This record gives sequence, C-alpha cells and structure tokens, in this order.
Amino acid sequence: MPSGEPLSSIGIKVHVRIRPTAKPSPMFHIEDQTNTVLIDLLKQNGGGAPESFVDQIAFSVNSITQSTDQSEVYESCGRALVKDFLEGYNATFIAYGQVGSGKTYTMAGDMKVNAHRGFIARAIHQIFEEKEADPGSGIVLYISYLEIYQEGMYDLLNQRSKDLMIIEESGYVYIRGLAKIPVETEAQALMCFSEGEKQRSYACHQINQVSSRSHTIFTLCMEKRVGRFKTEYDTVVAKLNLVDLAGFERLKKTNTSTGGRMRVEACSINKSLCLLEQAVYAIKQGQEYVPFRQSKISIILKEALSGNCRTELILCLWPEEYFLDETIKASRFAQRLKVLRTFSIHNKKIDCCVLNERRHAQEIANLQQELALKDALQGRPGLSFDDLTLENYSLYSRSLKYLCELNWKKCLVNMDWLNQLKNHKKQNLVWVN
Ligand SMILES: Nc1ncnc2c1ncn2[C@@H]1O[C@H](COP(=O)(O)OP(=O)(O)O)[C@@H](O)[C@H]1O
Ligand SMILES: [Mg+2]
Repeated sequence: MPSGEPLSSIGIKVHVRIRPTAKPSPMFHIEDQTNTVLIDLLKQNGGGAPESFVDQIAFSVNSITQSTDQSEVYESCGRALVKDFLEGYNATFIAYGQVGSGKTYTMAGDMKVNAHRGFIARAIHQIFEEKEADPGSGIVLYISYLEIYQEGMYDLLNQRSKDLMIIEESGYVYIRGLAKIPVETEAQALMCFSEGEKQRSYACHQINQVSSRSHTIFTLCMEKRVGRFKTEYDTVVAKLNLVDLAGFERLKKTNTSTGGRMRVEACSINKSLCLLEQAVYAIKQGQEYVPFRQSKISIILKEALSGNCRTELILCLWPEEYFLDETIKASRFAQRLKVLRTFSIHNKKIDCCVLNERRHAQEIANLQQELALKDALQGRPGLSFDDLTLENYSLYSRSLKYLCELNWKKCLVNMDWLNQLKNHKKQNLVWVN
C-alpha cells in the first residue's frame, strides 16, 4: 500500500456538456456567468398570471460547454485531471447521462477521425507527451479495460481472463484477474484501447444507433521515479480511471419495452444506475452504511466517490423537450455527487533498498560527527573517549534516537555521558529500541 502525505478533502467537480440539437427545448436554459443549468417546470395546480404557472429548477456546476469540438472539451475539462494523475494522484473521470446524450462520444469518440478522438485517446497522448519530455522519470504504464455488462465483468483486453473478482483491501479496490498490459509507446496504448473497443457490447435502438450497453472503465496505472539521484528515488504510483457509464433509458422511448435482449440490458443498466444513486445519496447523507456492494459499478467507484481519488464528472445533456425528464434526473444525480468530498494522497512508495541506503548514509554521517568531535577534543583535560566499539556505537545510535524522540536538538555527546544516560534511563525510563 503506498503511503504519502494526506491532503485535505476535495470536492467532486461537475462539468456539463450539451449535445447539439436542432430542436432545443424552450424550457432549458443555461446561465454562463454562474455556470447554472435552469429548467422550467409547469406547476401542476397553478393559477393567476401565466408566469406563475412556471417553476424553475437550477443546477449549479463547475463548467458548461456546448462545444462539439472534442479537443476544446478535453482541454477545458480533462487535461488538468490527467496532469494530477501524472503528478501521482489517483484520478477518475466519469461520463454520465441519459442514453444518446454523448457519453461514449466524449470518452471514446471516433478513432477513425483524428479531430473526433475522445478523452481516452487524448489522455494517452498527454501522458506519453510527458513521458517523452522527461525520460529520466522512468514512467512505466499499464492499461486495463473492464466492461460491466448485466452485472458480469469482462476483460476487454484479454478474453481468456476468467472469474474476475472485486477485491477491497484497506479502502483500495482492484479487480483480481484483470489483465494489466504494459505499454511503452502511445501507439501501443492506442492499439490496446482500439482492441478493447472492438469487444464492447453495442446495440441499435430508436434513440442511439450505436448504443453502448455496458459500463466501461479504462484504467491507466503509472509508476514513476522521483528524486534527485539515479540511485536514490521514490516511486510514485497512481491510477487514472476513465469511466463511460451506460445511459439510463426509458424503455418506451428506446422502444425496448416489448421484450428481448435489449429490454433485459436496459433493466440491468437502469438498476445498476439506481443503486449507484442510492450509494451517492447515502454518502451525501452521511449514513453509516453505504450500499456499495449492491452493484459492481458502485463498488468499483467507491474510491472515486469517497476515497483516495480526485474525481470529476462530465454530465452529458440532450436538451430536447422529449428528454426533459431525463435531463432533470441526470442533473439531480450530478448535483448530489457534487457535494461529496474525497481526499487525495500523493502516492509515494519508498523502496526498501532506498530506505536501507538512507539509514546507512545517516549512520555514516553520525560516525563522522563522532570522529570529528573526538579529534577536536583530543588531549583536553577532564575528557575521555572510549574507542568506538560495536557495543558503544549501538549505544550511541540508540541514544541519538531517544534524544530525537524527546524532540531534543541532536547534539554531540561523549560516551561517558551516554553511559550515564543509559544508567539513568535504566532506573527511570523504558529504553527506546
Ligand atoms: N457533443 C456532441 N457533439 C457531436 N455529436 C455528438 C455529441 N454528443 C453526441 N453526439 C452524437 O450522438 C451520437 C450518440 O452519442 P453517444 O456518445 O453514443 O451517446 P451515449 O453514449 O450517451 O449513449 C453519437 O454517434 C455522436 O455522433
Ligand atoms: Mg454510450
């Protein structure tokens, strides 16, 4: 388990991306200055002047974009989080919204057209750009690509991976059995991603011709050396999850209400999103029990929702009249998520060899100080030094440790004094080993 200095808690950021449409609803508004989404509602039992028939709900978010330009959206919503990951912080980016609102377009995009590439390809590019700019950092990267389809887990990078299992250890969640492919170049990473994409489950329905029918989590794990010397460095480890959630759908609207595989898929997607909402609600309410375990996607997102992770969500909206209910539902979820707080740790792993080296270097420095003191005080009346035997060196270093723990200024002492201290401690204190 990596260790590092804890930072204070941080909020989850919510960005809104609005899908272009030829018939936007007159009930849907955005207020750019305050980053607010406003939706008019007709009052059920209103009376009086026509304006009073209208209620308005407001959702405040961190940013709103209507851009169709994939690069612009990545620059404003994705780049900073990937930079955090490169610095050694766990990060998760989630695309959320109703079916057909542009989640897969945002995350995966269209790999055949350069300008239409989504967050995943752009994050890969940013990471390898950094790796090439700083070859000394020795960045090592691994890729995993997981699909959750009808509560089953599938390894999109290795079809032979069987019996994938979610393991949770001291707040750290990982999938046992999921392939972790080492990648050395951007081309290799993109190849992995494209191969994984081919394995995903898609279907065609009334709202989306190429509708992804599963949740996917594309993960990049990084190890990188930080330190001044080649031989003395810490390893920074971090994980970046790029999550494309399946969209909730009204069975009547996608025309899957009559039965068959798509209906089963839709029910499973809606159920897992509903359970995710319940988990988010429980965290928001500060409930002692949070039902993470009730769905695979909830438990996999546990760290992103309440653990060691910097999390951002892109809420994809399709602002047509026909989808106003879905827009409100999705915005409500994002609003709840926005008040959750996670924490962020700089994940530094200190190598045992490095630790030993540091300890030895410290001991050498202590011995040098001792010799310098001996030389300086040589021949002075009233002072005597024992030769530095193994036994009294051990006494010396333990004493230093004791003095440091007492928060004393580390000082030079001679062995007589140390022996007195030892005798005194024997009577009064427990010796610190
Ligand atoms: N912001 C956008 N700009 C341009 N086209 C978009 C945008 N969002 C969605 N689309 C188009 O809508 C279609 C459906 O989007 P998709 O990402 O598959 O939806 P979802 O994954 O949310 O179900 C895509 O084929 C894409 O061409
Ligand atoms: Mg999709």
